[in-house]
Amino acid sequence: MSDVLAFAQDTARQAGRLLCELYRQHHTVRYKSSDIDVVTEADMASDQLLANAIQARFPHHAILSEEGAVDLQEELDSIPYLWLVDPLDGTVNYAHGHPIWGVSLALAERGKVTTGVTYDPLRDEMFWAIRGKGAWCNGRQMRVSEPSRLRRALVATGFPYRRATLADNNLAEFSAVMPRVQGMRRAGSAVLDLAYVADGRLDAYWEMSLSPWDWATGCLLVQEAGGTVTGIHGESWSLAMGHALVSNGRLHNELMALLRPGKEIWPL
Ligand code: IPD
Ligand code: CA
Ligand code: CA
Repeated sequence: MSDVLAFAQDTARQAGRLLCELYRQHHTVRYKSSDIDVVTEADMASDQLLANAIQARFPHHAILSEEGAVDLQEELDSIPYLWLVDPLDGTVNYAHGHPIWGVSLALAERGKVTTGVTYDPLRDEMFWAIRGKGAWCNGRQMRVSEPSRLRRALVATGFPYRRATLADNNLAEFSAVMPRVQGMRRAGSAVLDLAYVADGRLDAYWEMSLSPWDWATGCLLVQEAGGTVTGIHGESWSLAMGHALVSNGRLHNELMALLRPGKEIWPL
């Protein structure tokens, strides 16, 4: 196992243990971009643990974390080594005691993610990938699913916190896809949605307004599991892009057509 992977897994497990200890306690909640965008004391504690561990082990690496104070001035792809950290993804679920949340960290080398882990501590599932070495859940290699028709597909998405005021709030896209699929899910953790596409538990997922720490590990997982990752209109995907469509590949064109702006929803 590479040193970076062993470090990332070990650190994600430590953060997971801390998040589990704090899970059932009363949470101190603060609000960020809007009055539904919460951050708890657990997000901050996990962030601190991860930042301390990275700084101690890789003092020359940069860190971009959802809760971190660092404001990167450089383009992502000019930074030699950058850790992308979501110390708690699914904070709204976590704060309500809903058990879909996880922790995710990835190392990008000049904008390209080379190693990533997403850990779900409640199920003890460690999703991980090294570029070129496949995608894994604990010790089992993952592959994307088979379905090639939307009527047989379980598809997920998510919505931005600023959805009440943002024009591109994903509701039109959701309405276009929802009537055509076997099932739609909005589970509330992007990092787990992405891991589930890699493992074939979901057939596709898209979201329109996420940050590099949400995408970093999950897009590598899907690519390494044989899936397809693009922008929602088929653009070639990069970390700095806020949107992405990921799928088992077979459903990609059909979904892309539905995610076109102004797409007529009816007839089915
Ligand atoms: C959120 C979750 C959610 C997604 C939101 C994200 P957070 O991340 O991943 O599923 O729909 O867009 O911001 O705030 O819980 O880390
Ligand atoms: Ca978060
Ligand atoms: Ca997140």
